[in-house]
Amino acid sequence: MQEFSNLIMGILLFIMPAYFANSVPVVLGFGAPIDFGRNFVDGKRLFGDGKTIRGFVAGILAGTLIGLLQAVFLPETQFALYNNAQGHALAGFLLSSGTMLGDLAGSFFKRRLGYKRGQPSFLLDQLFFLLVALALVFPFAPKFVLDAPNLAFLFAFTYFMHVASNYAANRLGLKKVPW
Ligand code: CTP
Ligand code: MG
Repeated sequence: MQEFSNLIMGILLFIMPAYFANSVPVVLGFGAPIDFGRNFVDGKRLFGDGKTIRGFVAGILAGTLIGLLQAVFLPETQFALYNNAQGHALAGFLLSSGTMLGDLAGSFFKRRLGYKRGQPSFLLDQLFFLLVALALVFPFAPKFVLDAPNLAFLFAFTYFMHVASNYAANRLGLKKVPW
C-alpha cells in the first residue's frame, strides 16, 4: 500500500509542472493574442483570441517555477525523480513548454476544424497538451513514468482533472464555460 501511494505521488509530482502551465493562463492570460488577430489560409483565425502571448509566457514560467521548487525540495528525498536538481528544473521547463505548445497546436487544429474559440473539442482540449509535454520531456523522464500502466493512469487522471478543474473554474467565475 505504501509503495502504491508512493508510486501515485511520484507520477503526480512528475506531471505537476504541466498542470500548472495548463491552468495558470486562465488567470493570467489576457491582452494580445499570439496570432495578433491574423487568419490562416482557410480564412479562419490562426489560433484565436483564447491564446494570448501573456498566457503562453505565464504558463511556461509557472511550470518552470514548479520545476525549480522541485529542484530545491525534492533531491535527497524518496521523491527525487532525477539524478540531480538540474534534472527537475529542466523537466519543469520541458513539460511546461510542451504543454503550452500542445495547447497552441490544439487550438490551431480546432480552428481548422471550424470550432469557435472556447468551444469544446473532445480529447484535443484535455489530452493533446499532455501528449506534447511528454514528447518533449521523454528523453529525460524517469523510467517508471513510461511504464504502460503508469502512462495509462496519467492520461486517465489528467482527463478527469481537466474536466473537474474546468467545471470548478467556471463555478468560481474564472471561466465563462465549464470546459
Ligand atoms: N489562455 C491564454 N493564453 C494561452 C492559453 C490560454 O490567455 N496561451 C487563457 C485564455 O483566457 C483562455 C483560457 O486561458 O480563454 C482557457 O484556455 P483554453 O481552454 O485553452 O482556451 P479556449 O478559450 O477554450 O480557446 P480554444 O477554443 O482555442 O481552446
Ligand atoms: Mg477551452
